Amino acid sequence: MIVNGSPVDGPPPRPGQCLRTYLRSLGHFGVKKGCDTGDCGACTVHVDGVPVHSCVYPAFRASDRSITTIEGLGAGGDMHPVQQRFLEAQGFQCGFCTAGYIMTAAALPSGLDRARALKGSLCRCTGYRAIADALDGVCNVDPARPGHAVGAGVGAPAGPVIVTGAERYTFDLDIPGLLHLKVVRSPHAHARIRSIDTSAASAVPGVRLVLTHHDVPATLYSTAQHEHASEDPADTRLLDDTVRFAGQRVAAVVASSEAAAEEGCRALRVEWEVLPAVFDPVAAMAPGAPLLHGDTNVVGRLRDELGDVAAGFAAGAAEFEAVFRTPRVQHAALETHGSVGWLDDDGRLVVRSSTQTPFLTRRALCRVLDLPPSAVRVLTGRVGGGFGGKQEMLTEDLVALAVLRTGSPVKWEFTRAEQFTAATTRHAFTVRLRAAAAADGTLTAMDLEAVSDTGAYGNHGPAVLFHGCHESLAVYRCPNKRTDAHAVYTNTVPAGAFRGYGLGQVSFAVESVLDELARALFLDPITFRERNVVRPGEPLTAPGDHADDLTIASYGLDQCLSHLRSHAAPRPSTPPSSSSVPPSPPAPSGVVIGGGALSDGSGRGAEAPSGWLVGEGMAIAMIAAGPPGGHFADAVATLRPDGTYELAVGTAEFGNGSTTVHAQIAADALGTTPDRITIRQSDTDVVPHDTGAFASTGVVVAGKAVLHAARALRVQILDASGGTDLTADAVTDGPTLKELAARTPHPLRAEGHWAGSPRSVAFNAHWFRIAVDPRTGELRILSSVHSADAGTVMNPLQIRGQIEGGVAQAIGAALSEHVDINPEGHVTTAGFRQYHLPTFADIPRTEVHLADTDDTIGPLGAKSMSESPFNPVAPALANALRDATGIRFTDPPFTRDRIWLALSRHADHP
Ligand code: FES
Repeated sequence: MIVNGSPVDGPPPRPGQCLRTYLRSLGHFGVKKGCDTGDCGACTVHVDGVPVHSCVYPAFRASDRSITTIEGLGAGGDMHPVQQRFLEAQGFQCGFCTAGYIMTAAALPSGLDRARALKGSLCRCTGYRAIADALDGVCNVDPARPGHAVGAGVGAPAGPVIVTGAERYTFDLDIPGLLHLKVVRSPHAHARIRSIDTSAASAVPGVRLVLTHHDVPATLYSTAQHEHASEDPADTRLLDDTVRFAGQRVAAVVASSEAAAEEGCRALRVEWEVLPAVFDPVAAMAPGAPLLHGDTNVVGRLRDELGDVAAGFAAGAAEFEAVFRTPRVQHAALETHGSVGWLDDDGRLVVRSSTQTPFLTRRALCRVLDLPPSAVRVLTGRVGGGFGGKQEMLTEDLVALAVLRTGSPVKWEFTRAEQFTAATTRHAFTVRLRAAAAADGTLTAMDLEAVSDTGAYGNHGPAVLFHGCHESLAVYRCPNKRTDAHAVYTNTVPAGAFRGYGLGQVSFAVESVLDELARALFLDPITFRERNVVRPGEPLTAPGDHADDLTIASYGLDQCLSHLRSHAAPRPSTPPSSSSVPPSPPAPSGVVIGGGALSDGSGRGAEAPSGWLVGEGMAIAMIAAGPPGGHFADAVATLRPDGTYELAVGTAEFGNGSTTVHAQIAADALGTTPDRITIRQSDTDVVPHDTGAFASTGVVVAGKAVLHAARALRVQILDASGGTDLTADAVTDGPTLKELAARTPHPLRAEGHWAGSPRSVAFNAHWFRIAVDPRTGELRILSSVHSADAGTVMNPLQIRGQIEGGVAQAIGAALSEHVDINPEGHVTTAGFRQYHLPTFADIPRTEVHLADTDDTIGPLGAKSMSESPFNPVAPALANALRDATGIRFTDPPFTRDRIWLALSRHADHP
């Protein structure tokens, strides 16, 4: 076999080995594992010039053939033109899928239908526009001028290593003597272990360790990671004698190979006592329901009333009430959960993990394994997508214990099936909302009941419930609001944090009901929102809130709504009395950064086919810039001996783009360019405590710590140079700073810190124009517009990507994605082939508009904008469907069959 032009110098493939694992065993780590079933394309390589999914290609078939991986695509040290295009377009975020796309695109004959050719390639981050730009040869990056990097479309520092396959993710390292961990998972939704026989498993050749509930600490903890551990119930054991969902880990086998570990798992014998199970959260609240933990299945509760809701309904001229159900959906990050651990030369435990929270994971490991913080180091490589799913400790605890028990390095990497059956999902919500408005469109009452299904363990359950019910109501000024909400245990796979953190679910109900109220009052939906949304200087109130530090530190929702109005067609109406109607807002300001035509090669046009139903819909959302209770970040900026800078920050980079923005912030503060800043990150040995990269805090919290550190370093440099500003002199080669660094007795080094409070709010609004084929139920998006208020735009390229990615994930959740659980509690959508992620052809281009605001709290005026674009998308689509069909759809996903069925029933009983 020839690989990248050289004969393979190593052992031949094992019998049955696929080409992917063989190439990785040879050190070609650019060949990625996304699924192992040929569905995602992350492992694409060329065999004699033909692109293949190497995970389903037997390695022996590559004998006597020429293989090219991403590492060998360029020639003579130069990048291949396709690699260059992906770099110039920044056609990636986490980059885990990028090598596969580049290998596929590099082999595409010109003229081939792109949508068909990319059917076997999935990207979960980008929303595909940036990939399309790369294929089209569009250059999106801006050069950064010294001291003026903020606001420019600066490319990611890791761009060159991502497109060449040299970037190192969690498992992209060769560790001699590595052991492999696999787990036995429960076949039952609720059962007690009567006995467990490990003798046959231990006797399997290669097996080094078998762990059951007899062998692990009894400490209870939560897999969820928050700054304040008390936010999540401590209801989980490393290995338990009771299982509460089908798929829960029962025992671990550690062996010299994955095959031996799997054989050991098969040899384990468990005798079960099957217990009654409950799968529906409402049934789980009923008296007599099987109990999962303690004496109640309710793990979080919110009941409160502001004003007088009964009086509010009495004052209403129109009201609407409906029940909405949003299903579980999966994060489906291309890199699955996993970690690898070892003991360093000093005997310290080191865990390299695919986590968004290395510091909190270290804290959790210390607690569970009774170790001091100084004995544990947690770090990440680049993380291949997270979306909140990696704010959990799902593998690190068992890996760490196995390392400590064996003294050897140990690896555990989830399979894609495990990702669906044992990793967390978005919480399924059932929401009943009743709301009323006066004749002029002023909201008079909102009455919300919500039940969220947190699954078998309560990680994130209460916090998602509280957050979901807060900003979705607080964005409206209605004086009378009531909330009665429960997070409930069931015998199903646990839910967890996911982009939007509950707001997507509750906003779906709120924005749908408000659309109906607007219709009932003959108001167009934008006018209805303009009359009711919170305004600058007003309090942000919702029942049960503890958000004293939340304030409107900048306000661009008016601009967002004005921008949508410039697209929306006037809805036929009977105008209400306008005596109390405020004047229309001014024409939209801000900036539009792309989108427009939907023609993307998929054959869609912006016009509806003849005979199709056409409709428009919009929705809004508000989100707090950071979680309540504080979110802590530290940063350290240092002048290096060569006259460049090092910046150490605690947060992980998983495609959220925070590394790029941190480099921009530091560069501006130091009067230089981002390429002169070397970033060290997400390593508990590098900086003091950092809460982690979640809740959109990468810019507003860690970015503020970076700003403080860089500014403090600049002051130190000024002091050391006697007041002469040397930073500007050092832009090109740093000679003056180099001299300064040489003559100071200690490195010039400054720390920055931010505690994440007070917090501002960010806003999003989305508008769709769609067409529906009444004969088939097919839905096509004709136009998609998103308007966002993120304060100062730190990097237009990245913020556009975050918005497009969030919108694409939300379109998937609205139209095709759902985790199915059968009557026995088993997840049946356990692979990409059953779980329908949107592909290149499924996602339209979205025009992105950014409001022109400047936040008084965020760093340099910025606010958060990573998770919030998700939230208004599904209700905007539902409202457009209502406009097109006359039917209120309450239960996403709006699949073709469901739309067709609803249309058929509506035709029979209009
Ligand atoms: Fe495509 Fe992350 S960039 S999966």
